[in-house]
Amino acid sequence: MKAMGFDEPGGPEVFRPETLPVPQPGPGEVLIKIAYAGVNRPDVIQRKGHYPPPPGASPIPGLEIAGTVVAAGPDLSGERIGQEVCALVTGGGYAEYCVAKIDHCLTVPEGLDLAEAAALPETLFTVWHNVFERGWARDGETLLVHGGTSGIGTMAIKLAGLFGLTTIVTCGSDEKCAAALRIGADHAINYKTSDFVEEVKRITEGSGLELVLDMVSGDYVPRNLACLAEDGRHVTIAVLGGMTAELNMAQIMARRLTLTGSTLRARPDEFKALLCDEIAQTVWPAVEEGKLRPEMDRAFPLEQAGDAHAHMEAGGHIGKIVLKVAHD
Ligand SMILES: NC(=O)c1ccc[n+]([C@@H]2O[C@H](COP(=O)([O-])OP(=O)(O)OC[C@H]3O[C@@H](n4cnc5c(N)ncnc54)[C@H](OP(=O)(O)O)[C@@H]3O)[C@@H](O)[C@H]2O)c1
Repeated sequence: MKAMGFDEPGGPEVFRPETLPVPQPGPGEVLIKIAYAGVNRPDVIQRKGHYPPPPGASPIPGLEIAGTVVAAGPDLSGERIGQEVCALVTGGGYAEYCVAKIDHCLTVPEGLDLAEAAALPETLFTVWHNVFERGWARDGETLLVHGGTSGIGTMAIKLAGLFGLTTIVTCGSDEKCAAALRIGADHAINYKTSDFVEEVKRITEGSGLELVLDMVSGDYVPRNLACLAEDGRHVTIAVLGGMTAELNMAQIMARRLTLTGSTLRARPDEFKALLCDEIAQTVWPAVEEGKLRPEMDRAFPLEQAGDAHAHMEAGGHIGKIVLKVAHD
C-alpha cells in the first residue's frame, strides 16, 4: 500500500511516499480501507521530532481515519465488513489502509460524508474528555477556549453549543474572530488587539467563568486563572506557548481552583474504548441527526501531506484539514 512517512524529523518537505505491506488486523481489530485521514497539530509536532509515537504505534503519522472495513481480526465475527466507519488510531492514518480497534470505531451515519467523518474522532474525543469529563462542564456554564478556529477550538465551540455552554474564544485575527462567531462562539476576542483577561471580565460583568480549555500554557496560565470564577477549572491540552508557568498557589487555594489536563494518544486502549462508547451514546446521536458536523477547512491528496502540514503551520486554516486517499 501507499503511505506518507519520513526518515528524519524536519520541515514539511521531509514527507516522502512509501510502499508498505497492508497491516493485518489482530484480535479486536479491523482493517480499514481509508478514504480520508484527518490532519492534526500533533502530527506536525511528531514530524518535527517532538512527539514520538507511543510504543507499538505505527511510525506513519495520522490519528484519525474514515473508510470501509475490509477485514476483521480472528476473534471478530466479520459482521462489520463492508461498513463505513471512522476511527481513532494511534498512528498510521496517512496511508491506504490502517488497522483500528473495533472499540475505537464509530459507524458513519447517512448524510455524513467520509471527509467529515475523518475529521471528527481526534477533536471529538479530546474535547469531550477534557471539557466534560475532566472539566465537569455543565449547561449554563461559560467556557474559554484559545485557538477558537483550530480543529480543537471549532469542535469545542460546536460541542459547547450542543450541550448548553456559553463559549468565549480567543483568535489571532479579526477574520478568525468573525469565523468563530459564525461557527457558533458567543464571544470572540482578538488577543492581538485586546487583553483577553480584561475582555473576559467585561463579558462576564466581573464574575469570571467556570472553565478554560487551554492549548497555549506558558504565561497564559496565570492569565487564564485570572479569568476563572471561584471553583473554576483549568484544563491543559497543549503547551504551544511554553511548558512552564509561574503560579500564585495562594490564589488556587483561596479561590478553590482545579488544574488538570491530559493527552489522548498514549492512554490505554481500554480508556479509549470507554470514551468511544460514551461518545457513541451522548454525542453520536447529534451526528446522526445532522446537528453536529466538523468545521472543514480543505482536503489535500495523500501525496501532498507535506503541503497539508505547511498549510496548517501557516496558521490561516479555519477548522479541519484532511487528506484524500485515492485508491486505484
Ligand atoms: N491533549 C490532547 O489530547 C490533544 C489532542 C489533540 C490536539 N491537542 C493539541 O491541541 C492543539 C490544537 O490542535 P489542532 O489540531 O486543533 O491544531 P490547529 O488547528 O493547528 O490549531 C492551533 C491553534 O493554536 C493557536 N495558537 C496559539 N498559540 C500558538 C502557537 N504558539 N503556535 C501555533 N498555534 C498557536 C492558533 O490560533 P491563532 O492563530 O488564533 O493564535 C491555531 O488556531 C495542538 O497544540 C495539539 O497538539 C491535544
